[in-house]
Amino acid sequence: LQARLTLDPAYRIAETDPRIYGSFIEHLGRAVYGGIYDPAHPSADEDGFRADVIELVKELNVPIVRYPGGNFVSGYRWEDGVGPVSERPARLDLAWHSLEPNRVGLNEFARWAQKAHSEVMMAINLGTRGIEAAKNIVEYCNHPGGSYWSDLRRQHGVPNPHKIRVWCLGNEMDGPWQIGHKTAEEYGRLAQEAAKVMRWVDPTIELVACGSSHSKMPTFPDWERVVLEHAYDEVDYLSLHSYYGNRDGDLANYLACSLDMDAFIRTVVATCDFVRAKKRSKKTMYLSFDEWNVWFHSNEADKRVEPWQVGPPLLEDVYTMEDALVVGCLLITLLKHADRVRMACLAQLVNVIAPIMTENGGASWRQTIFYPFAHASNWARGTVLYAPVESPKYDSKDFTDVPYVEAVPVWNEADGRLVILAVNRAEQPLTLQVDLRAFPQARSEEHVVLTHPDMKAVNTKERPNQVIPVKHSLDEVGDGKLQVILPALSWNVIRLA
Ligand code: AHR
Repeated sequence: LQARLTLDPAYRIAETDPRIYGSFIEHLGRAVYGGIYDPAHPSADEDGFRADVIELVKELNVPIVRYPGGNFVSGYRWEDGVGPVSERPARLDLAWHSLEPNRVGLNEFARWAQKAHSEVMMAINLGTRGIEAAKNIVEYCNHPGGSYWSDLRRQHGVPNPHKIRVWCLGNEMDGPWQIGHKTAEEYGRLAQEAAKVMRWVDPTIELVACGSSHSKMPTFPDWERVVLEHAYDEVDYLSLHSYYGNRDGDLANYLACSLDMDAFIRTVVATCDFVRAKKRSKKTMYLSFDEWNVWFHSNEADKRVEPWQVGPPLLEDVYTMEDALVVGCLLITLLKHADRVRMACLAQLVNVIAPIMTENGGASWRQTIFYPFAHASNWARGTVLYAPVESPKYDSKDFTDVPYVEAVPVWNEADGRLVILAVNRAEQPLTLQVDLRAFPQARSEEHVVLTHPDMKAVNTKERPNQVIPVKHSLDEVGDGKLQVILPALSWNVIRLA
């Protein structure tokens, strides 16, 4: 089998926004308590944050982290999480049937994010709350001082404003599971008014309206249309969420699920542009794919977790090699839409459907999906080139014309480096012919491969290095051509200097 890719600097999709490599920390399971925050852990710093986890987050190079939810945010009172910790209330979290002790709130999280070299993407509660609380939290976080809420922040020991730039207007408001679920009409009006007032408090913020929770929602894509008919002028981004899983044990079909993400993005773009045309607007609506990942392994175990615990073990998917391939395909798909997808969040970051796992008070390790994300985030920054892959194809249960090779080239003009991210979905090695004649200076640097003979292989506390990337030899570029062998069922990073 052979595939072909032609790279030319004249054909560009867009410059990547670094925030396409965002992630997510929700007050859910052991993401906060036992994940990023564990004062009893030997590596805990003066704020109770695990230094080992911060190091792993830095390895992933995550420029922005969404917080504090998720479903959690739709019942959250942000005021519960600020001020003296001893005076903060414990509350029932009805989204996850857990107990929220409020030991970590927005000031602590902003501090953690700074230590992890990330920005905060703040989500507000538009489930049980409204414009008043939305206005106040922006004032508390971003106003310098001299007003009630900004002075309260100063009293709480934070003299300088957090300058939080990105704000999500609620979470998954189209979903009946959401606390305070709304119709598109109800939500569209509320998002419009909340956005307007939040921007009056701080005109520099960027606002994200909720799109559909996934592409199979019965209200998709009318939800997008109606919400934007209300809020188009007031918001900057529309959100998308999507999770995938191999529930039927059908590998070929599972590996093709990025085609669903691709179609989802295309439909949302079309809907945004439809509303733009209807409004005779000159503004382009951008997308924030602020929840995406594999999520299915833990579904059954979660039904057995006792309610009302602090930091229960929820959504603790243990990821396989095949999940890492899917995450690779999803990353490539997001990059191919870098002209419209400006932000994206791998959901989530620690313990909860996460690339990083921890044991309370103990070890931390990298799941299989850690590697494709870290590779893309560290190396695939710059200009995404338009380079359709010519690849043999297959049909699966839900998809037709699935290319065996999924690939995207990214060119970093600043340092002259090129990187090709590629997944081989075939159960046999495949030769990728790369035409580099338009890049006469290109020289082979390295070929990093993630694969395993057992697609169900996982990394665990006991065996954290079962699935790790290895370097393969890479031929020199000759006559503007490079030939690379992509091993069967593999994630590949081809780096050119
Ligand atoms: O990331 C886990 C959950 O998935 C989030 O809380 C919610 O927004 C989505 O349904």
